[in-house]
Amino acid sequence: MASPLLELHNTQNISVRAMVQNQAVTSTKDRAELLQAHAELWCHIFGYLKSMALRSAIELGIPNAIHHNGGSASLLELLTTLPLTTNKQSCLPRLMRFLASSGVFAEDILIEGTTTKVYRLTPVSRLLVDDIDMNDNTCQLNFALLAMSQFQVMASLCLGKWLKNNDEKTPFAMAHGMDLWGATSHDAEYNMLFNEAMASDSRFVADIVVRECAELFLGVRSLVDVGGGNGAIAMAIAKAFPHIKCSVLDLPHVIYGTPTDGKVEFVVGDMMYLVPSADIALLKFVLHDWNDEDCVRILTRCKEAIHNEEGSGKVIIIDTVIGSPSQQILEAQLSMDLCMMALTTGKEREEEEWRKIFVEAGFSRYKIMPILGVKSLIELYP
Ligand SMILES: C[S@@+](CC[C@H](N)C(=O)[O-])C[C@H]1O[C@@H](n2cnc3c(N)ncnc32)[C@H](O)[C@@H]1O
Repeated sequence: MASPLLELHNTQNISVRAMVQNQAVTSTKDRAELLQAHAELWCHIFGYLKSMALRSAIELGIPNAIHHNGGSASLLELLTTLPLTTNKQSCLPRLMRFLASSGVFAEDILIEGTTTKVYRLTPVSRLLVDDIDMNDNTCQLNFALLAMSQFQVMASLCLGKWLKNNDEKTPFAMAHGMDLWGATSHDAEYNMLFNEAMASDSRFVADIVVRECAELFLGVRSLVDVGGGNGAIAMAIAKAFPHIKCSVLDLPHVIYGTPTDGKVEFVVGDMMYLVPSADIALLKFVLHDWNDEDCVRILTRCKEAIHNEEGSGKVIIIDTVIGSPSQQILEAQLSMDLCMMALTTGKEREEEEWRKIFVEAGFSRYKIMPILGVKSLIELYP
């Protein structure tokens, strides 16, 4: 029989062992969490490399090269067509492995004697193929190049400094010494990229709007696309509904550089002062560039423009309404909000923020249609 002293000793031993075991369990769990957090932090820190790898892929013409190779291409096939210098060829497998791991391309491994890696387009990279027959107006190549351009990346780099600074209106102005519209009017190349990028987004949206929202245009005789850039959406609407007289209002450096198709009228002007009369005033991707006060001003001009005897005029807004059950759409919306913070005095808005602006501009009702993924279509009535 064990002595009471030994029993006490054993009991202590057991509880110490249990404590050590418990600590081991806790510290293994803590360590796993710590290592997971560390890896996650790396993903955030290096997140910008996802953009830069994508930009390199576009600059090298990889989506088009895969498309022209029949939809998939081995590394060797890519190397024979892409403009990589000989001493950089060993970098291509690493770039492709990274882009495949982030879902831009898909990677297949073929084993026929030797192992060959073959890359296919994914739904994401199909949006970057510059071939209208394949992607029917959905190409987002220029939009991607604009969003990852030096002008915009440099503005984002100033975010932190700008948040601590009282003087500059935007990080963009801090980086470039002028606002976004100043830069587009001063730099012809940036102006062209900006307008083409907007046009690619507009063609993408127009396709859905004219197909799925034809009822919006019933009985409509005229439409003015306010801040309409090079008129991509107005042209698509004029083509789909030839009875509607479409016009585009924008700043001089945009209008004067735009080739006209004769079907849409281009008007130089400032939407802060006057919007030409029409049954519909369309504002696509415009209000998110401006603060609430300026939005009220623009909407007030639009309300004056759509005033007609029948009282049938309306404003159509195509912009983001923050909030979505899809985590990816929400992330895209919040990313665009930070992009607006970096570039403009505007922002992406939640429904309540939109409502406040509409009421202040004197509108009585609105209807939000979340039919455009990241963006929504809003009908707005006086
Ligand atoms: C983000 S872009 C959108 C272009 C077009 N609506 C689209 O979605 O493709 C904003 C447009 O507003 C125009 N803009 C900026 N300030 C303006 C003003 N005061 N009057 C008229 N247009 C203006 C810009 O030149 C630019 O074309």
